[in-house]
Amino acid sequence: MMVTVIVATCLTFGFALAIFLIYRHQIQHYRKMSEDRNLGLSEEIVPQLYSYNDLQKATRSFSEELGGGAFARVYKGAICSGTRIIAVKRLEKVMDEGEREFRRMMRATGRTHQRNLVRLIGFCDEGSSRLLIYEYMSNGSLADLLFKAERQPCWNERLRIALDVARGICYLQEDCEPHIIHCDIKPGNILMNDSWTAKISDFGLAKLLMPNQTGTFIGIRGTGGYVAPEWLKNTPISVKVDVFSYGMVLLEIICCRRNIKLEVPSDQMILYE
Ligand SMILES: *[C@@H]1O[C@H](CO)[C@@H](O)[C@H](O)[C@H]1NC(C)=O
Ligand SMILES: *[C@@H]1O[C@H](CO)[C@@H](O)[C@H](O)[C@H]1NC(C)=O
Ligand SMILES: *[C@@H]1O[C@H](CO)[C@@H](O)[C@H](O)[C@H]1NC(C)=O
Repeated sequence: MMVTVIVATCLTFGFALAIFLIYRHQIQHYRKMSEDRNLGLSEEIVPQLYSYNDLQKATRSFSEELGGGAFARVYKGAICSGTRIIAVKRLEKVMDEGEREFRRMMRATGRTHQRNLVRLIGFCDEGSSRLLIYEYMSNGSLADLLFKAERQPCWNERLRIALDVARGICYLQEDCEPHIIHCDIKPGNILMNDSWTAKISDFGLAKLLMPNQTGTFIGIRGTGGYVAPEWLKNTPISVKVDVFSYGMVLLEIICCRRNIKLEVPSDQMILYE
């Protein structure tokens, strides 16, 4: 009797212990898996929110300026303890749209993943500051390559770049939901990474600077020489305006000159005439 009770108790105890251990192991396994997945998600898909202080540190108080335009200045910086180089774009004239709209748009832009689009890593909106953090493109713009370099790129290189840009535009028009009209395709907005892959920058900004893009009419924002004729006539625009600008860029890639050049005889000034 005694022996039976002891054996039964031991068996029950051992059984319970085994179940407990298996259960704990599985919980740990599951936790680890979901952690991995979360990390992957936040790294890969969602652009991160940065504080202004972080960015001030990352860019050493905005000391190294890479360039700028009418509506933004761009600074070089580094995150991940200096291992990842970034470009920080500081918007100067943003329509007052409210934080939620800005964040919604950042998320939409951050979801675009294509090798020919410059990757949005994160953003910051504190008070009136609006900053965008992009991957750093080390080899300058297509404008530098076509108009400033000593050596013209060879035909194979030019063909590759033309295809790269076309793929980027195609993605914006066909695979993005809703479609993104870039509104300012030009060699200055096409950047080169270390291995000379061409990537389109500044997509998605048109809407930020011109909130009424979803309507039928949008004020002209493009750059002279690249603006589609229907836009100049105040008629509704579509993704086709980017196709027109791309055609112009293609001509420039073929001829290695700007589409408007002042220092040549007047009959050659405008490339497409
Ligand atoms: C340049 O971009 C392409 C496409 O995203 C990528 O495959 C390649 O690794 C990049 N080059 C460097 C040096 O980062
Ligand atoms: C472009 O990339 C190549 C190879 O990575 C590098 O040697 C060259 O200096 C870069 N050019 C510019 C203008 O940064
Ligand atoms: C945008 O459209 C709305 C209504 O259609 C109009 O009231 C507003 O003034 C427009 N904003 C700009 C900046 O054009």
